[in-house]
Amino acid sequence: MNLSQTVLGIEFGNPTVLASGILGITSSTWKDVAKKGAGGITTKSLWAKEHKGHPNPTIIETEHWMLNAVGLPDAGPAKAQEEIGDYMKDHPVPLIANIVAGQIDEFAKAAEGIVPLGPDAFEVNISCPNVEDEFGKPFACSAPDAAKVTAAVKKIVGDIPMFVKLSPNVDNIGEIAKACQEAGADGFTVINTVGPGMAIDLRSRMPILANKVGGLSGPAIKPIAVKCIADVYAATDGKCPIIGTGGVYTGEDALELMLAGATLIGIGSAVARHGAEVFADVCEGMQYWCTNEGIDNIADLVGGMHKELASRNA
Ligand SMILES: Cc1cc2nc3c(=O)[nH]c(=O)nc-3n(C[C@H](O)[C@H](O)[C@H](O)COP(=O)(O)O)c2cc1C
Repeated sequence: MNLSQTVLGIEFGNPTVLASGILGITSSTWKDVAKKGAGGITTKSLWAKEHKGHPNPTIIETEHWMLNAVGLPDAGPAKAQEEIGDYMKDHPVPLIANIVAGQIDEFAKAAEGIVPLGPDAFEVNISCPNVEDEFGKPFACSAPDAAKVTAAVKKIVGDIPMFVKLSPNVDNIGEIAKACQEAGADGFTVINTVGPGMAIDLRSRMPILANKVGGLSGPAIKPIAVKCIADVYAATDGKCPIIGTGGVYTGEDALELMLAGATLIGIGSAVARHGAEVFADVCEGMQYWCTNEGIDNIADLVGGMHKELASRNA
């Protein structure tokens, strides 16, 4: 059973990708994650200049969900450039550089610093809910704003493939995706965290997170991820590859996101909870299921739900 795919000209040995923001930003950590079975790596969100995150506590975790208000801390471009530069020297699996900013020209500046390092792709984070207080609504909440960021970054990255990371916290994610596709997005990452949400400590009667609210991730968000992926796939006529992300812990979770339209599978909270061994476990689960079902090529499953619905309605 073949788990490998070429996506926007990039070769992935298997569909799993480390999601942004999980496991820091060092080259040695990324190499370790690759060795343990990830098909690709996404960096945490990188800014054009140093950015302070939120105070502790920033993360709450249960078996069913995770709330985080890490606040996208970043030591600044020099550190990121050093680590990406080192990783790209031997480059065991593709690297996707995730960038973020509060203003459109700052997105372009963040991309400019990374282009010379030769990442395999960019991911543009227009969707982080827990920095909303600093910048107003995320760009991902408005089709014209999302399109403006997309066009500005595409102008800088040129032929390097660019995924735009979308928010589930919108009325019509398909409309946002379509606007970004028209503005030059090559693919999408669907979804960033849901919410924000809140958890309260019973004794102190206070929100547990210092930031009060945080983005929701983990098993609880998988059905939302599936719906958003299906909507983006339909709105873009299946023409833009999707890194489906949200609540993947098993091979069957990954296959479900693929049937909705994902080509690659981002894994975040499961890595935070179970370690990087989860990549090999998810791949083994996909292999097992596909072998039993007589499926030779994982790519044949992408968008399978849409094809099945169409054939039943024909
Ligand atoms: C602790 C934590 C930090 C995150 N940091 C980032 C980030 O820096 N940039 C980003 O685009 N997404 C970030 N995310 C969102 C994840 O990349 C992912 O989209 C989301 O958690 C859903 O996937 P999951 O359910 O597999 O965790 C973060 C998520 C968590 C839990």
